[in-house]
Amino acid sequence: MSQRTLVLLKPDTVRRGLIGEVLGRFEAKGLRIVAMELRTIDAELADQHYAEHVEKAFYPPLRDFVTSGPLVAMVLEGDEAIEVIRALNGATDGRKAAPGTIRGDFSLSNRENLVHGSDSEESASREIKIWFPDLP
Ligand code: CMP
Repeated sequence: MSQRTLVLLKPDTVRRGLIGEVLGRFEAKGLRIVAMELRTIDAELADQHYAEHVEKAFYPPLRDFVTSGPLVAMVLEGDEAIEVIRALNGATDGRKAAPGTIRGDFSLSNRENLVHGSDSEESASREIKIWFPDLP
């Protein structure tokens, strides 16, 4: 079943010059870019996106991180895109993510883990509306 999902290449990906490397993996897999934008977000958008985490202890530094510089937000589309992208991304903690995954190959952090991918169809539709409200 074709799905759309919201993907963020977080500020660490941009700072480290890894946009091409990470985006290339999604493209090579066959996922289609439906929308894409380089932008620096404010705390309000971070809070909206991470609504389920705002009360957690790890959230204040996460908010500082995701607002610290430009990130690339995109909507990707493809068969089973949500699960496929989460597999490509790897486990949240880069130190534990399997080699061959994006986080496993490039991250040594639980926070600065390069990418975000929606974790369910409900999250995908909620997040796509937040980031790309005008997308048909
Ligand atoms: P993401 O997939 O964007 O979803 C929530 C984010 O919170 C996660 O990636 C990490 O960047 C961050 N995160 C999750 N758990 C922790 C944690 N225990 N410590 C620090 N950051 C975390």
